[in-house]
Amino acid sequence: MGIVLLLIAAGCGDTADRTSEPADEPENGLTAFEEEHGIGPFTEEVALGPEIDEEMARMGQEVFEFNCEACHALDERFVGPPLGNILDIRSPTFVMNMIMNPSEMAQRHPVVQELLREYPVVMPYQNISEEQARAIVEYLRDANP
Ligand code: HEC
Repeated sequence: MGIVLLLIAAGCGDTADRTSEPADEPENGLTAFEEEHGIGPFTEEVALGPEIDEEMARMGQEVFEFNCEACHALDERFVGPPLGNILDIRSPTFVMNMIMNPSEMAQRHPVVQELLREYPVVMPYQNISEEQARAIVEYLRDANP
């Protein structure tokens, strides 16, 4: 009887050990920054001004019409997701990294991998400059549908 109890006690301790996992192990190899702000040339959070810079927004609109409207509308699904309210769900830095580094984002970022299930086209790299990417964000800030 004493031996049976001892075996049960040993068994319990063993199970508890095997089910406890290290809490901080990265699952996808991304840093916390990359999870929130994307993978690309912007490795620090881009701060927006308190007011919309109208001139920058106009430049952003031109780039958007030329490079993005073939696939993105503001208020409805097209080849890609609607972008009019994108800044409500993603950080400005995420949007800019997506614009400048879409293929690595598609390969490595869980948010984009999830999008690819719904929009089965990999967004192309378009050689947009950092300044233009920033201007597109300013336009999108102002473009709520
Ligand atoms: C050839 C079509 C195409 C073009 C051109 C294109 N995109 Fe995309 N975009 C997509 C698709 C499809 C997705 C969904 C994710 C993916 O496929 O990589 C996407 C995803 C995105 C996302 C992520 C949306 C989210 O919910 O996080 C952003 C931001 C974005 N695009 C911005 C832009 C901007 C800005 C431009 C212009 C500079 C642009 N895209 C040009 C097709 C395109």
